Amino acid sequence: MKAMREEIINIQNQAINQILEATSLAQLDEIRVTYLGRSGKLTALTKSMKDLAPEQKKEIGILINQSITTINQQLAEQKNIFTDSAHEWFDPTVPGIKPSLGHTHLVTQAINEISGIFEKIGFTRVRYPEVEWDWYAFESLNMPKEHPARDAWETFFVDHPIDPKMGKMVLTPHTSSGQVREMQRVKTPPIRMINIAKCYRRQADISHVPMFHQFEGLVIDRGIAITHLKGTLDFFAKTFFGEGRKIRLRPYHFQFTEPSFEVDISCGLCEGRGCSLCKAGWLELGGAGMVHPNVLTAGGIDPQKYTGFAFGWGVERTYMMKSGLKIDDIRLLYSANLKFLSQF
Ligand code: FA5
Repeated sequence: MKAMREEIINIQNQAINQILEATSLAQLDEIRVTYLGRSGKLTALTKSMKDLAPEQKKEIGILINQSITTINQQLAEQKNIFTDSAHEWFDPTVPGIKPSLGHTHLVTQAINEISGIFEKIGFTRVRYPEVEWDWYAFESLNMPKEHPARDAWETFFVDHPIDPKMGKMVLTPHTSSGQVREMQRVKTPPIRMINIAKCYRRQADISHVPMFHQFEGLVIDRGIAITHLKGTLDFFAKTFFGEGRKIRLRPYHFQFTEPSFEVDISCGLCEGRGCSLCKAGWLELGGAGMVHPNVLTAGGIDPQKYTGFAFGWGVERTYMMKSGLKIDDIRLLYSANLKFLSQF
């Protein structure tokens, strides 16, 4: 009897030692079979009980059952350790996975660079509403209601009650809507404004997007002449595009400038030979001219005392023409295609 009791305790201790040393679920399963399986060590002892007296049978039976319970509990505990993720094995010396880093959008990079260039020569960056009154977008710019020149701006109108003086509300189709707002803010020149903002037009093709950005320069002071305009645009073109790129002014017509020009830059994609983007080697960047006296008057500035120049260019087109960048469709900039954007 005594020998049998000791044997049960020994078997239980052996089983528990092996369970504590096990390193996998498969090993635990092997241990369970070795001790509790159909021909396991404790099962064999149960079978040998048949020769014992009834009292002894009862005592040994209880002991064996207690051992089976203890071994099962220990197996379950060890199994929990292997399956609980908090106990998962972790090697702190394995190099980590580097998270991929993004960057500011190309248009944001261009805006920062453009404003930096103009701030260097004394311009102040301003912002005016994107949802704007017709009066600031057109009428104060010498484009009365129903004037055919307005058609060029393919405007989005906002469903809003019409104001007797300000007219309808529009999504601003150009940053020129900031000109008269700036005159009203500063009141007495000098004015040196750079207004960079979103603009909206009903257009979409290889060189047009419905939402784009313009940067608008406005300089007003005594004695401002076309030479100041030319010098400022030359400085910008050389700083932004590099010495190799050429700029040209073509006579044009805008209602709010007189005289007016279109500003072109030699195409960076084909280097002036002509391609699907530019057609004839030049790409139009935007307009410019001397501020019309009616616009100065609308902004409360005396055209007899002051003169000024203004220019308004597309940020996206300007960026696309920068040396070394071969972007042949403006819509790629807004495609949210990370393969494209992460190249820059
Ligand atoms: C204007 O918007 C005038 N306000 C510019 C101006 C300002 C003239 C000050 C005189 C004095 P225009 O409609 O040409 O002009 O647009 C200017 C530039 O904005 C274009 O040359 C082009 O670079 C850019 N642009 C216009 N529409 C789009 C569009 N849908 N998608 C991308 N860029 C555009």
